[in-house]
Amino acid sequence: MTTGQLIGPIGAIFIHRSRPAPMKPINKNACTLNAAIRYPTILFVLFLVIILISIGLLILLLADTNQKHGVKFADHSQRQRVHNYVRSVLARECRPSFARKNIEMMFPSSTPVAEPFLQKNSNLTEQMFRYPLPFGLLDIQPKIKNILNIIPISSSEKTGRHGCRRCVVVGNGAILRGLELGPLLNQFNVILRLNSGPVKEFSRDVGNRTTFRMSYPEGSPKIWEDVDPQLQFVAVMYKSVDFNWLHAMITGTKVSFWDKLFFWQKVPGHIPVAQSKIRILNPEIIRQSALDLLDFPKPKQRLWGWDQNIPTIGMTAVNLATYLCDEISLAGFGYNLSQKDSPLHYYDTVSMTAMLKETMHNVMREKTVLQRMIEAGSVSDLTGGVHCSFC
Ligand SMILES: *[C@@H]1O[C@H](CO)[C@@H](O)[C@H](O)[C@H]1NC(C)=O
Ligand SMILES: *[C@@H]1O[C@H](CO)[C@@H](O)[C@H](O)[C@H]1NC(C)=O
Ligand SMILES: *[C@@H]1O[C@H](CO)[C@@H](O)[C@H](O)[C@H]1NC(C)=O
Repeated sequence: MTTGQLIGPIGAIFIHRSRPAPMKPINKNACTLNAAIRYPTILFVLFLVIILISIGLLILLLADTNQKHGVKFADHSQRQRVHNYVRSVLARECRPSFARKNIEMMFPSSTPVAEPFLQKNSNLTEQMFRYPLPFGLLDIQPKIKNILNIIPISSSEKTGRHGCRRCVVVGNGAILRGLELGPLLNQFNVILRLNSGPVKEFSRDVGNRTTFRMSYPEGSPKIWEDVDPQLQFVAVMYKSVDFNWLHAMITGTKVSFWDKLFFWQKVPGHIPVAQSKIRILNPEIIRQSALDLLDFPKPKQRLWGWDQNIPTIGMTAVNLATYLCDEISLAGFGYNLSQKDSPLHYYDTVSMTAMLKETMHNVMREKTVLQRMIEAGSVSDLTGGVHCSFC
């Protein structure tokens, strides 16, 4: 179904909770104890050491149970099956415009979006100002004009296509762990990655090339690992202040203190990508994913803002890929929500429980729609987490 950072703020909370307890409280206790009981120092040190060792053992024990319940590495036969399927997908002849044509057949009432990215010379149509972010540009016209003026016109988009493009959208699901798909994923023409899905330590499972990294400010990598010279960064704008952040990233300036207050998680202060490789996702892609593909209700204005169901970045990436690619495969998509203790991502220990608490996204609806696309053959699911056509 979906991918990585759809856990949103909940994920952030979980990450914070799973950090080891800070040392401060222990020291504070130690001071009061020391002051209260004037015992010989050596006894007190011994006492402290025993406490620290017990805490250490407890942490090890917890980590161990976590491993037993959570991490399930793919076994040999499963790995073989997946590898054979991916090889068969790569061996097929690439069919030009295949994914887009099929999606248009599946969703006949949906009008194709004119351009996937916003540029200086983009036609900002009336339709684009109908809804606020992330579905449109309502009320932020000056901001958008300002930012489009500073980004150079992309040359790669204008020069058109270089042959038939076979793409893989790499989701951040734990299903990728131990599958050792890296070398096969690297063979796709275009590799889309989401948010901070890392490549360095995990290249055996997820490959190391990145053609597009698509992310919103809070989800962007704090430590940048991509070294692919082709990489383009696709900025996904969910709220008005995201444009201030992007402006700072493009101009190499600091994100202001006031702007920082509006982010629910720390945002990177620097994105090491050339100005000419930064793209702004057209909000029409998100609107189309939500209203046309997922059939979410139209956003409604309420007293305190807008009431809307927002697609995950994974679903949005699949729709974007239909404009950038000829054929689309998914890897690392799909969560098994009935395995509550199992990990959510291939790179951390956040568990499925975090996903179950998520209310902003409609994960079940997304799974159903992706399943339909896969069953119809419009998109291939390489790891079989949404719909397994090779199991
Ligand atoms: C914008 O619209 C005009 C007229 O409809 C067209 O000539 C032009 O190519 C469009 N620009 C882009 C970037 O699509
Ligand atoms: C990926 O790894 C291969 C093999 O280690 C290496 O030759 C290649 O340069 C790497 N590519 C990127 C973009 O990191
Ligand atoms: C999800 O996990 C449950 C419990 O382990 C299992 O019975 C079920 O088959 C899994 N579903 C899928 C689609 O893998």
